[in-house]
Amino acid sequence: MEKKSSSEKEVIYVLDFGSQYSHLITRRIREAGVLAELVSPDFSLEKLSQARGIILSGGPQNLSEKGALRVDKNIFKLNIPILGICYGMQLTAFMLGGKVKKGHTSEYGSTEITIKKTSKILQGLSKKQITWMSHGDQVIKLPKGFINTISSKNCPIVGMEDAKKKIYCLQFHPEVKHTINGKKIIENFIKITKVQRNWSMQNFINDSVKNIRIKIRDDRAVCALSGGVDSAVAATMVQRAIGGRLTCIYVDTGLMRTGETEQLKKIFKKHMRMNLRVVYAEKEFLAKLKGITDPERKRKIIGELFIRIFEKEAKKLPNTKWLVQGTLYTDAVSSGISSGGKNTAVIKSHHNVGGLPEKFGFKLIEPLRDLYKYEVRKVGDNLGLPKKISYRMPFPGPGLAVRIIGEVTKEKLDILRLADKIVEEEMAKTNLIKNPQFFYFVALPDIRSVGVQGDARTYGQPIILRTVETAEFLTADWVHLPYSLLEKISTRITNEVKGINRVVYDITSKPPGTVEWE
Ligand code: XMP
Repeated sequence: MEKKSSSEKEVIYVLDFGSQYSHLITRRIREAGVLAELVSPDFSLEKLSQARGIILSGGPQNLSEKGALRVDKNIFKLNIPILGICYGMQLTAFMLGGKVKKGHTSEYGSTEITIKKTSKILQGLSKKQITWMSHGDQVIKLPKGFINTISSKNCPIVGMEDAKKKIYCLQFHPEVKHTINGKKIIENFIKITKVQRNWSMQNFINDSVKNIRIKIRDDRAVCALSGGVDSAVAATMVQRAIGGRLTCIYVDTGLMRTGETEQLKKIFKKHMRMNLRVVYAEKEFLAKLKGITDPERKRKIIGELFIRIFEKEAKKLPNTKWLVQGTLYTDAVSSGISSGGKNTAVIKSHHNVGGLPEKFGFKLIEPLRDLYKYEVRKVGDNLGLPKKISYRMPFPGPGLAVRIIGEVTKEKLDILRLADKIVEEEMAKTNLIKNPQFFYFVALPDIRSVGVQGDARTYGQPIILRTVETAEFLTADWVHLPYSLLEKISTRITNEVKGINRVVYDITSKPPGTVEWE
């Protein structure tokens, strides 16, 4: 099939075979200023033929297994640069007449490779490289027209290519940071594709605002603000497009942190001049949560009540046809292969305002559907949102209710809020918070212990301090906080928060723990 220049699209498609790193490939390309999209292996050949480049991702399967994912063989005839990574390499070899077999030794983790032949994809790299491997199978016979470019101790064919057909394959993962020169390799592939580097958040905002305006026309829209970055940025984009015809609703559940509602009002009403309706519903939430101790029931109750209140409020708005949601790219493609979807166990039924059902009869506007979280933060910057919002740490939809183990009461919420504020103040004095992967919070367990304060016996509650470092919350490492900081936090909390006589530090990673306690 010949490529038609008129329909060329400045995009690199990543065919997702289910690797845990698939999103990372897309992200790395976007970080280089190029639009990349994750698509399923059966994505239409017609659309693929319009791309500047195609990447075949890794995946957990073995080609020898029945039902292993394949790809339309015709993609290799499109004359578009192709990069096969891990399973993508094995699949390329297999489909073009090479051979793949289980290796004698699997390779996992950091692995040294040797470059045997210089190549466009390996430009600027010295002969020995450290890479990240994760495979059992390996290519043992090259397809016709291919040469072997890289080898390792346990795998003679780590790299292969047919430069004439612009097909390049690597057994290791260039998208993973542990591949020391991975970025350079991805950069080399981008150069090979000759794609234009026009993926910028400013361009994205301009195009999206225009499209939203065309879509909504003279109608009105409503958005549920949560205080988090996604709904804030989504609402701000829509406000840019339709101004005062957007109304935002914020439900104060009484489960928020200190000063959050006031801050939100200040930013969105005063600073951004948004139509903002604040619904104070603390009493309703606390009444429904009375006597409830099971974490999942708490989540369900909070989620349902939130929706009911939002629905009631939204119905008061005349001629409102559109609902704005801050759905992200990772949510939008979560039915995709790499996200597990069907076969993953429900650990926690997450509720957030992004999950409002469509049954309200609204049409949906999802301005962030094509963006990763780090891109949303940049859009927030470009739109002039304060850093406090754009770089806010994630906060669970059910709020402090899932940080109070056992029944949620106003008294416990106040205790937790004060401890949370102290930790926030102490963290703000450190450099830790400059690390976007750093996350901290406090929790209040349902136990008491004996203590002594001012020579008197106390029988109070402990506060749990938890800090983790995490890239995407799928895994997390507990952080080795300096003793001096732990000491300061412990002293302040036990001195300043009535009823607390101990501070304990959680030294559990995820797995085996989750980040939150409930
Ligand atoms: P876990 O505890 O699952 O937390 O390791 C991972 C991330 O998700 C947040 N989290 C939630 N977010 N609704 C949300 O919107 C929820 O019910 C919920 N529970 C946990 C948590 O704060 C962390 O950022």
